[in-house]
Amino acid sequence: MTVLASPVTSPSAAWWKNAAVYQVYPRSFADTNGDGVGDLRGICNHLDYIRDLGADAIWVSPVFSSPMADAGYDISDYCDIAPLFGTLDDADRLIREAHERDLRILFDFVPNHTSDQHPWFVESRASRDNPRRDWYIWRDEPNDWRAALGAGSAWTWDEATRQYYLHLFLPQQPDLNWRNPEVVQAMHGVLRFWLERGVDGFRIDVAHCTGKDPNFADHPRCLAGEPLASFNDDPYSHEVLRGIRRVVDSYPGERVLVGEVNIRSTASVVQYYGAGDELHMSFNFPPLDAPWDPVVFRTCIREVDSLMQPANAWPTWVLSNHDNARHRTRYGGSMRRARAAAMLLLTLRGTPFIFQGEELGLEDAPIAPDRQVDPGGRDGCRAPLPWLRDAPHGWNGAPPWLPFAPDPAALSVQAQQADPESMLQWYRQLLRARRASEALRLGSWEELPSPAEVLAYRRREGRDERVVCINFADRPLTIELPGAWRIELATQPGRLGQDFDGVIHEEQGLLLAPAGS
Ligand code: GLC
Ligand code: CA
Repeated sequence: MTVLASPVTSPSAAWWKNAAVYQVYPRSFADTNGDGVGDLRGICNHLDYIRDLGADAIWVSPVFSSPMADAGYDISDYCDIAPLFGTLDDADRLIREAHERDLRILFDFVPNHTSDQHPWFVESRASRDNPRRDWYIWRDEPNDWRAALGAGSAWTWDEATRQYYLHLFLPQQPDLNWRNPEVVQAMHGVLRFWLERGVDGFRIDVAHCTGKDPNFADHPRCLAGEPLASFNDDPYSHEVLRGIRRVVDSYPGERVLVGEVNIRSTASVVQYYGAGDELHMSFNFPPLDAPWDPVVFRTCIREVDSLMQPANAWPTWVLSNHDNARHRTRYGGSMRRARAAAMLLLTLRGTPFIFQGEELGLEDAPIAPDRQVDPGGRDGCRAPLPWLRDAPHGWNGAPPWLPFAPDPAALSVQAQQADPESMLQWYRQLLRARRASEALRLGSWEELPSPAEVLAYRRREGRDERVVCINFADRPLTIELPGAWRIELATQPGRLGQDFDGVIHEEQGLLLAPAGS
């Protein structure tokens, strides 16, 4: 079945408020040259799949030149493509072919650090008086700051020049010094390079990390073993973001910045929208950490509503990405819960981000010790997408760089396309309902009284309205709603189109439209 995407037409709001974004993790998406690693041409070949799913935009994880110490988040040339993924021509073609299908395209911008193989760092470490010495952060003495990805101290000793350099991630990812105006210039040049090639904006990697405490004070949380990147919140990062925003705003079209503010606190996240002069949108990860528990979800969602709305900050919703265990896995492997969670993701107020493979209901792949690639232990969620039912599931040639997640045949795109009740069709139905309802895309959000294990809310825009009820309990519960409603979508089939009688089955999600509409 093919669902044609109609362009999003709501003149009242920016495209990115109306949009659902699909995250492509290129190395695991689709391979075209048989080396077992997904590539840019593989994305081009499957753009219709993304469009037919009902997404409006894609975010592509890094494909730039890189020694791949952190799967491409260690960049040695921001303005070229790693041969593993293709060429600059392939990138241009991807941008063009996405646009031909009314898909916007965001690239990943990694401002906090480069690769240690980047020519800038090679120069910086060449001698203390090299003109690029100050492009990175060098100190005579380390402090207690800790790196992420299990890398220990955030300082690595350089024997040749007898100083330490700072890296909030791996030693192969030295941090840039954004207080140096030449760095600002150079990195703005990177943004311009891609804006001129037509990207619709950027996902900004660890957007809260570019500013560092200028006093390099020890921090008790680091002493307790926590990496600085999980709470670094220096005011200078806001200055950096304002500069980036000015560059992006100087281009025609509605280019957008979505930042990864990886501080697990919505109150901190809101600060990164600035006064409408920093990020257009920020990720907010407390809901991604939430277990399948109505109390935790209710708390997270209320917090987003009460903190973001007054700050005029447009929310985002993310349940899975390339850094965390997939949500089906986190919810105990339950397909039923994953279906209900998809309803939450796609009906809350804000822009949803779908991580490739969640529309197939994939779980994390179990990774044997000898197959581990990522020093941060994140391989499980990065398993390749199974396209075809029969092995090797569309990955002809060398075996893919990681093993498949469980049930690749049954969960393959091919199998699910043929099954009207599959997870893939469920995501399509939800995205179609969302596209058709301005209330779901842009409307107000209001929580409705409900039993404790049910989350119920109403979305409203003008005369368009919808109600969503999610029953987290493993037994049926009833709810009394104001007015009369009919069932538009349900996680378990059976009652579609019927008037709603107040019963929500175990772990069921219901999307309700006004009766008679
Ligand atoms: C972000 C990326 C992650 C990467 C890190 C360092 O958190 O999502 O994959 O390892 O930044 O760039
Ligand atoms: Ca390939």
